[in-house]
Amino acid sequence: MDRIASFFNDRIKSSLGNYVVGVTAATVVCIPATYFIYGRYMRGKMNQKIHRRAQRSQENIEEMKDDLAKHAAIIDENILQLSFRDLQKGLQDGNISATAALRSYQAKALEVNDEINAITDVLEDAKVTASKLDSLPSSERGPLHGIPISLKESCGIKGRDCTAGFGEMIDVPWEEDGVLVKVLKSQGAVPFVRTNLPQGMRSFACTNPIYGQTCNPHNKSRSPGGSSGGEGAIIGGEGSILGVGSDIGGSIRIPANFCGIYALKPTAGRLSMIGNFGTGALGGQKLVPPTDGPMGKDVESLVQFMEAVLCQELFRLDPSTPPIPFRRDMYENWKPLKIGYYVYDECSRCVPAVERAVMLAKAALEKLGHTLVETKPYKAAYSLQKILIPAFVADDGDGYKDLLKYDDSCGVMYELFNFHRKSYRERWFWAKLKELTGYDPMVTGAMKREQIRTMKDWFLKANEAKKFRKEFTETWREQGLDAVICPCMPCVANTSGVDGQLLSAVTYTSLYNVVNFPAGTLPVTKVTKTDVAKTMDSSFYEAKTGIEKIIQADSEGTEGLPVGIQIVGLPYTEELVLRLMRELDNALKNGAP
Ligand SMILES: *[C@@H]1O[C@H](CO)[C@@H](O)[C@H](O)[C@H]1NC(C)=O
Ligand SMILES: *[C@@H]1O[C@H](CO)[C@@H](O)[C@H](O)[C@H]1NC(C)=O
Ligand SMILES: *[C@@H]1O[C@H](CO)[C@@H](O)[C@H](O)[C@H]1NC(C)=O
Repeated sequence: MDRIASFFNDRIKSSLGNYVVGVTAATVVCIPATYFIYGRYMRGKMNQKIHRRAQRSQENIEEMKDDLAKHAAIIDENILQLSFRDLQKGLQDGNISATAALRSYQAKALEVNDEINAITDVLEDAKVTASKLDSLPSSERGPLHGIPISLKESCGIKGRDCTAGFGEMIDVPWEEDGVLVKVLKSQGAVPFVRTNLPQGMRSFACTNPIYGQTCNPHNKSRSPGGSSGGEGAIIGGEGSILGVGSDIGGSIRIPANFCGIYALKPTAGRLSMIGNFGTGALGGQKLVPPTDGPMGKDVESLVQFMEAVLCQELFRLDPSTPPIPFRRDMYENWKPLKIGYYVYDECSRCVPAVERAVMLAKAALEKLGHTLVETKPYKAAYSLQKILIPAFVADDGDGYKDLLKYDDSCGVMYELFNFHRKSYRERWFWAKLKELTGYDPMVTGAMKREQIRTMKDWFLKANEAKKFRKEFTETWREQGLDAVICPCMPCVANTSGVDGQLLSAVTYTSLYNVVNFPAGTLPVTKVTKTDVAKTMDSSFYEAKTGIEKIIQADSEGTEGLPVGIQIVGLPYTEELVLRLMRELDNALKNGAP
């Protein structure tokens, strides 16, 4: 009996054992396999979605071309030659119809787009807006009446998606226009295209898996800069006269500088950001706030933009903006100013062409009666490594996780996101290793950014930023500075962005996001043959750091590219910055203010 029982017992036990082993094995194999297959499936679907979105965008461009061919008679090349002022005047007097202005810019934009791939969306309803404007009596015309305007893809528009290069955001329609778009429309502007940006808008590249790479209009194998690279490229290519970009580390100024156009990064807070794409959770990051700003063909386009949007409609739609209209008295003031200048921020050395641009501007401003004094920017490297980067990736990249779940992430974005998901120790280790192999201290310094672990860490970081801003402002006050002129980037439009290393070259611009000072940029000169020869000659340009070596190696073929500078003012002195931009631009162009 016992033997029979034990026989059955063993049977039961072993089958139970087999069962347990079987289930465990199935679990170990099946769950990851399911995850894997599901992941592959979702990625496949995402790729299809991205493909469809890109195709739709291309189809809309083709449709617009057909539509334009039907209205060829109204396209007027002469309109494209007009300065902002003359176009505005023609539209106000009725000599130029809003429709003719729109059609002419549409045609040019699509023509240059074939070369540079800057347009992500054509806004088909622009022609309806323009024809409505044409029937408006002249007494009801807004200051931007009939001005065609391009928008960075991150500007929210009712009924359209706003992807910032993330597949995840495709076909998520916006419920209403962003506040700035509403205000621009209320002043008579006609948004007609949206333009490209790098995925996530956290680099000065201009490529993403949906719309691809945008090219510099002055040399197709070079970068237009970013993140507002599509705006820089389309305006630099003369396919638009005025556009809206956004800037959190240089994203308006760098593309303007690389593409040879004019732009203003206002004090963050002066214009509204409501209704823009906020890059997921990072939209709530307020330590270093982003801001929208105008990019245009000349200084006047920026002035008219600011004067038009700083209006009751803006203050009503977003009462958090200070209700300060454009101060003409500050803009038209002739009082001589004390202006600081520098050509080196002790992070990355500028190429000779950039130094020459700053010195040209210095001489021109002195001639106008201003006092120029050499100055040193306060702790530029610190501002990037201890404030900006820790703020950007305070969530260790979590904010991007959902957005990139099934998406193909691209280049710099991927490096930034993935690298900062590692623990502090691991990042520190890699940084040390790279330091030993002679990596740039600006790059390894950023790699070693400290982790924000608790809310207390975050509060302390905010205190650090506050203290830095106070100290920075004091350095201006001690020297009695009204403004500063300085480089915008240490190089001109780049090609090779090896390892995203050039990302740490943004200190010239990012410093003024950290302290939240307004800064404009304008083209001053072009790279000459001598500039290039000097850059390649180590007795003129001694490339010590990794970034400087990349810049030096990349300088062959830069001849003829635009070189600009920045003009920086104290918070909320956009009018003073624009005044200096106008004076300098006039002085450089005609030898008169
Ligand atoms: C009207 O505009 C055209 C350009 O479209 C220009 O050639 C012409 O001079 C303008 N006429 C007046 C009176 O401003
Ligand atoms: C220019 O440099 C940036 C930053 O390193 C990089 O992302 C971008 O791809 C470079 N541009 C080109 C055209 O390679
Ligand atoms: C454009 O840039 C490339 C890459 O640096 C360079 O080889 C080429 O000579 C440039 N083209 C012109 C027309 O300057």
